[in-house]
Amino acid sequence: MRGLKGKVAIITGAGSGIGQGIARRLGCEGAKVIVDYVGTPEGAQETERAIKEAGGEGEIVQADVTKIDDVNCLVNTAWDKFGSADILVNNAGVEKRSDFWDTPEKDYDTIVSVNLRGPFFLTQAFVRRLLDAKKPGRIVNISSVHEDMAFPGFATYCVSKGGLRMLMRDLAVELGPLGITVNNVAPGAIVTPINKTLLEDKPKLNALLANIPLGRLGTVDDVAGLVAFLASDDASYISGSTFVVDGGLMRNYHEQ
Ligand code: BGC
Repeated sequence: MRGLKGKVAIITGAGSGIGQGIARRLGCEGAKVIVDYVGTPEGAQETERAIKEAGGEGEIVQADVTKIDDVNCLVNTAWDKFGSADILVNNAGVEKRSDFWDTPEKDYDTIVSVNLRGPFFLTQAFVRRLLDAKKPGRIVNISSVHEDMAFPGFATYCVSKGGLRMLMRDLAVELGPLGITVNNVAPGAIVTPINKTLLEDKPKLNALLANIPLGRLGTVDDVAGLVAFLASDDASYISGSTFVVDGGLMRNYHEQ
């Protein structure tokens, strides 16, 4: 991928799942990676090891995207350790199933804070540093097919991802004049820890697979390749779009 060598990328939720795959891939492409995690340090260490094995450089930071102090610390670490940052991947996300009428306020607040408020203020902190340094930049949000598609039992998740879609569209316009591109990647069903319950439920899993034209779940590498492209020089004229990685799921409709 052109232009990733030596670039500095901040990736949230890089201790597992899609974030870990993106960190590994950008590291392989020669980027220096700030590996953000919030829960288990082992995952972040595993990510850092994989980056090093691929010949790249990584720095682990524990930062909770819902806390402004943590968010500022995350961005500042990139500048302190690597001298600047070029790419931000807002990947950290959570989901929890509940019927709409049973959804507790606490769950709503957690999901919207991690999935939407986090990217809002982290992007703000990142853009402020770019403005000071008069630098261009790349922002890629890991959204979901559910930024557009209903997901019964996951209304709060849909709210957060729909909001992330409009944040991306608005910022593509507002930040374009600064040389900053903003895009979303919308994965469908990918094999990651967020899907643990589904992966263990054979009948549900088979019903989902029947809806995926390519007949399989996605892998983190399927998503990471697209993120690397969007962060590369080959994507310098791309901004304001969502790119779906779902094996055809969103376009599929059939009657039983
Ligand atoms: C969700 C998964 C779901 C998939 C397809 C993703 O955004 O995280 O739980 O299986 O969308 O519906």
